Amino acid sequence: MTTVNLTLKDPARLDVDTLVVGVARTPDGPVVVGEPLAKGPLKALMSTAPALGVTGAVDEVVRVPAPSGVKATVVALVGLGDHEAHGGADATSPGGERVRRAAGAAVRQLRGTASVGIALPAVDADAVGAVAEGALLGAYDFTRYRTGTETAVERLEVVTPRARDTAAKAAARRAAVVAGAVHGTRDLVNTAPLDLYPAAFADVARAAAKGTKIKVQVMDEKELAAGGYGGLVGVGQGSSRPPRLVRLDWAPSRARGSVALVGKGITFDSGGLSIKPAKGMETMKSDMAGAAAVLHTVLAAAELELPVRVTGWLCLAENMPSGTAQRPSDVITQRGGTTVEVLNTDAEGRLVLADGLVAACEEDPDVVVDVATLTGAQVVALGTRVSAVMGTDDVRAAVVSAAERAGEQFWPMPLPTELRASLKSQVADLANIGDRMGGMLVAGLFLKEFVGTTPWAHLDIAGPSFNEGSAHGYTPPGGTGVAVRTLVTWLEGLTER
Ligand code: BES
Ligand code: MN
Ligand code: ZN
Repeated sequence: MTTVNLTLKDPARLDVDTLVVGVARTPDGPVVVGEPLAKGPLKALMSTAPALGVTGAVDEVVRVPAPSGVKATVVALVGLGDHEAHGGADATSPGGERVRRAAGAAVRQLRGTASVGIALPAVDADAVGAVAEGALLGAYDFTRYRTGTETAVERLEVVTPRARDTAAKAAARRAAVVAGAVHGTRDLVNTAPLDLYPAAFADVARAAAKGTKIKVQVMDEKELAAGGYGGLVGVGQGSSRPPRLVRLDWAPSRARGSVALVGKGITFDSGGLSIKPAKGMETMKSDMAGAAAVLHTVLAAAELELPVRVTGWLCLAENMPSGTAQRPSDVITQRGGTTVEVLNTDAEGRLVLADGLVAACEEDPDVVVDVATLTGAQVVALGTRVSAVMGTDDVRAAVVSAAERAGEQFWPMPLPTELRASLKSQVADLANIGDRMGGMLVAGLFLKEFVGTTPWAHLDIAGPSFNEGSAHGYTPPGGTGVAVRTLVTWLEGLTER
């Protein structure tokens, strides 16, 4: 586990292996951000910077031998992007995202270095939090299936004039909790589906909550059948590894309001009998990213002792084809009695979520938010780095605004009533598929049928939850842990009212 410490020291005097310094791009070439270093020991170095390939571009990290006057062995120049893009090199971008990404890019690319000092602009508590969070997020390594040893950076020293301030210290502590939650989410997403099946996921949740004040209840397949959870039972019945519904409850005594979070937890989505082509299945171990984000958001809420009640629901099933699998045309009865004709077994997420949403709303929370890798249409609409938010206007807006503060990209999407007609079934209350056009919105409209009058938001994270490309900023390949930062920030906002 990487540790982070705040320090008032002159960066040049820091006792670390590598010192990270921010470099911004200007029309006249790269400039060091931070007066003392720019005018002092790094002045001569910067005259050769362009020849060394330093441009200041985002994600760029150039390592050079430390000049005399710098105690570290190596100086790493990390790009902050255009000098003017955020109103000058020292200005903080919305949500601190510019320094968060730079810190992450540097620490990620410094893998193998034991100790790293970070001298990025961190002038207030928010910026300190962003730098610490980015650095920790960049220090991620998924080593479960590797025979080698851990190589992520071990010790981080963040330079800031605020090192002694209570607010900055609290921000650094929060960053550690949030980064831990994001790492936990990434770990679950990256775990092979052979090892992470519904009961195993439930065990992970139970183990993680042990020693906290979170109460955990696990419903097995018999209890699910008895309780009328037809979606979880139907989707899970093709697998030899049966479904689970996990309920996590963080209920602080001085709670200001209550929130329910519902996560899609398909531990592997083969499509079922409506089987996916091989290519489409390659990333489907990540189809439980919503449930993983919900689990780790509840854990973070408890660790941060947020004064709001948070109940998490993990809808866990493995979607497999077999002689016992549900068939296209089967009719299931969701929790609460709504019947659904399953025309496509690959539209399984909405079936397990419908049960989870009904169960969550039965407890009458102030607001319910579901998180799901729900549709390929989400990726078509917004690409791989922007998530979608649908639902009740004010909840949707609150999530978008929390995402901005957290440095995640969530974009508001509509739920056009005219698309609802396409979900009509010839035989049941609803069909599980409708118009292909606007598929993300159709899925949202399906879910809307199950929340009643509870204020609600639906987060479709299909693209952003799993990075199929190469690393960037603080984001590694594979599981990204998206939505955790937004949800924690949103919960904090609820407690500040
Ligand atoms: N898990 C998939 C959605 C998905 C696709 C997530 C790509 C991440 C990347 C979901 O269960 C699914 O298969 N959805 C279908 C729905 C369709 C059959 C209506 C889809 O989007 O194709
Ligand atoms: Mn599917
Ligand atoms: Zn799925």
